[in-house]
Amino acid sequence: MSKSTGRLIPNPLPTIANRTGRLIGEEELQQLREVIESGTLAYIYGTKVWAFEKEFRELLGSPHSVAVSSGTAALHTSLVYLNPEPGDEIIVSPITDMGTVIPILYQQAIPVFADIDPAHQNMDPKKIENLISERTKAIMVTHIHGIPADLDPIMKIAQRYNLKVIEDCAQAHMATYHGKIVGTIGDLGCFSFQQSKHITTGDGGMVVSKTDMYNGRALRLCFDKGWPRDLPGRDHLFLAPNYHMTELQAAVGIAQIRKYPTSINIRRDTGRALAKRLDECDLVTTFRTLPDTTSTFFGFGFKINLPMLDADGESIAKELQSEGLKCELGYPGKIPLYLYPMIREEKTFGTSGLPFSSPSARKRWKYGPGLCPVAEQACKETIMLPWNEGMRDEHVQLIANAIITVLERHRR
Ligand SMILES: Cc1ncc(COP(=O)(O)O)c(C=O)c1O
Repeated sequence: MSKSTGRLIPNPLPTIANRTGRLIGEEELQQLREVIESGTLAYIYGTKVWAFEKEFRELLGSPHSVAVSSGTAALHTSLVYLNPEPGDEIIVSPITDMGTVIPILYQQAIPVFADIDPAHQNMDPKKIENLISERTKAIMVTHIHGIPADLDPIMKIAQRYNLKVIEDCAQAHMATYHGKIVGTIGDLGCFSFQQSKHITTGDGGMVVSKTDMYNGRALRLCFDKGWPRDLPGRDHLFLAPNYHMTELQAAVGIAQIRKYPTSINIRRDTGRALAKRLDECDLVTTFRTLPDTTSTFFGFGFKINLPMLDADGESIAKELQSEGLKCELGYPGKIPLYLYPMIREEKTFGTSGLPFSSPSARKRWKYGPGLCPVAEQACKETIMLPWNEGMRDEHVQLIANAIITVLERHRR
């Protein structure tokens, strides 16, 4: 028997950082062995990346797919494909990973933040239309925490204003919206296979798309230096980075993709079980999914009802951590994205302030507190737990008891 630590969670919980919370083993080793024995590690000479792309798009029912080196790379590839003019505007949520916004900045476009719906923390469709201008090019909609955003009204707005929709599905692999897998509803869907995601290749990403050619740009060239490798000679048709996935990553990806059903079922069942337990406590409000949608529980987030507590979010998070529960206050941290120095203090390209200061922009863009009040409040009252495939009912019960015990200590 392990020695008691006296904490509500006495022993470490399963984690995505190692095999306690990841489904990685013989299947991945077998795939990797084939790659090593072939001596071909690069995608352009190999077969695994092509096979991974095919298996992924067939699973989703999407016509096209390209594998890349990260989720950020997937989102950047999508933007290179859409090719906005410098100063064009991309509507995005302030509650997402910085990897959603970095590609916008690298493309010299302007992120325009639409506030969220507090019930699930996804972009609120009602907040979008007021932000649209003649410079708006696309809506980049993140499905946060594994929960599908409300795509129907977003797609309607996009059609009305002739905008493209990029779905950021990094946290919502295989989540469904009205019977469709997210990523297949917008023009492009982007996935991350970073270590914490529903399946992982260490780092890695995928773009699925309705088209493979847009305004003369081939999707596959958008992560390959604009280089049409199937043509003789060497040419670079437009500016694009190199975001190749390697054969090693794809080998792991092929083994991982077959584990989706197990990974999703465990995350969903344990996530729902925790939500059920926490719903019994009036000091907590769990996230709501929209009707006819399913969450795949990337992380487990919940709101603490601060007016009923004699402590703030930060103290509650610290107390939970000291009781052995890994958690954080807020997502993506204590502040929404636009309050991080990269954006707010324009720490971008030298001292230029670009793209916010771009003469091609329709105005001088500035970001500060008050821009998205719902998101700012959400960051102060959300506790985020990492979630993974190692979770079992015994962990769920321990976690629920720890959260409820700590909150009850602070009931007003
Ligand atoms: C919602 C979201 N978008 C984009 C990204 C970026 O993905 P990556 O870390 O693979 O670059 C992440 C990764 O954490 C994410 O959670």
